[in-house]
Amino acid sequence: MQQLKQLIFEAEKKRIAIGHFNISDIAGLKAIFKAAQELNLPVIIGVSEGESGFVGMRQTAALIKSLREEFDYPIFLNSDHTHSLEKIKEAVEAGFDAVLFDGGKLPIEENIQKTKEVVDYVKSVSASQGTDILVEGELGYLGGSSKILTEIPKDASINKEDLTKPEQAEQFVKETGIDLLAPAIGNIHGMFKNVPNPNLNIKRIKKLREAAGVPLVLHGGSGIRDEDFLAAIDAGISTVHINTELRLAWRKGIDAALKDMPEEITPYKILPSAVEEIKKVVEKRMKLFNKLD
Ligand code: G3H
Ligand code: ZN
Repeated sequence: MQQLKQLIFEAEKKRIAIGHFNISDIAGLKAIFKAAQELNLPVIIGVSEGESGFVGMRQTAALIKSLREEFDYPIFLNSDHTHSLEKIKEAVEAGFDAVLFDGGKLPIEENIQKTKEVVDYVKSVSASQGTDILVEGELGYLGGSSKILTEIPKDASINKEDLTKPEQAEQFVKETGIDLLAPAIGNIHGMFKNVPNPNLNIKRIKKLREAAGVPLVLHGGSGIRDEDFLAAIDAGISTVHINTELRLAWRKGIDAALKDMPEEITPYKILPSAVEEIKKVVEKRMKLFNKLD
């Protein structure tokens, strides 16, 4: 089976992107896996510290491993937005395929120093076990969290002067040795209910990809316009993170099931409605990222 790194480089070459979808429970995982399988596309499952705290790091890793082995399927697991070396170690020991060390809020020198510590640790483990665990670094602060927004988060970097700068990206990659870079390119975490998220800075993506020399990850995918996604992928994005849209779909599914069956108490009769709603979103996003009809 192909390694995640190879798949990302291939996606980049084909000017498509791999979908990274966050889960909080098995309903989300079932939905994402079904959608990926039906489209026959590789997929990355993400868990933030909050999400893995709920499901369990080792338990999440065991679930992904079981799907990968039983179905011989390219499904990978990423420790999303991880803020300490301690948590990174937990993820690596549990068997994650990739980690994102999130130092986006730190001053660049401190971000470089902490990210490098993570890279050194992960690469030494990878070398000793003959694996290739990917390390993603974050440069520029994205702000917000995966929820419904009513205004642009105050700390979001969407003004041109706050976006990740190509020369800093070059320095960051060179000095840390990361495999993937998550930049601030006008993206924010979370989405508005009735209007799309702000536009991405496509020119900056192109410059960042050239300067960084490593594949770029687009965070805060929920609420972004389709045309913006396609332009961003053409400009150098090869992985896209989606979470809020899935949380919204989960809630929609649960609400509908409870409305239809007000007396129902059996989780496995209520949850399929959430699975269906999440699956629809994942299918739509995967088709777009892979430029399928
Ligand atoms: O890391 C996760 C994401 O960046 C998801 O962002 O909730 O705005 O889709 P989102
Ligand atoms: Zn993110």
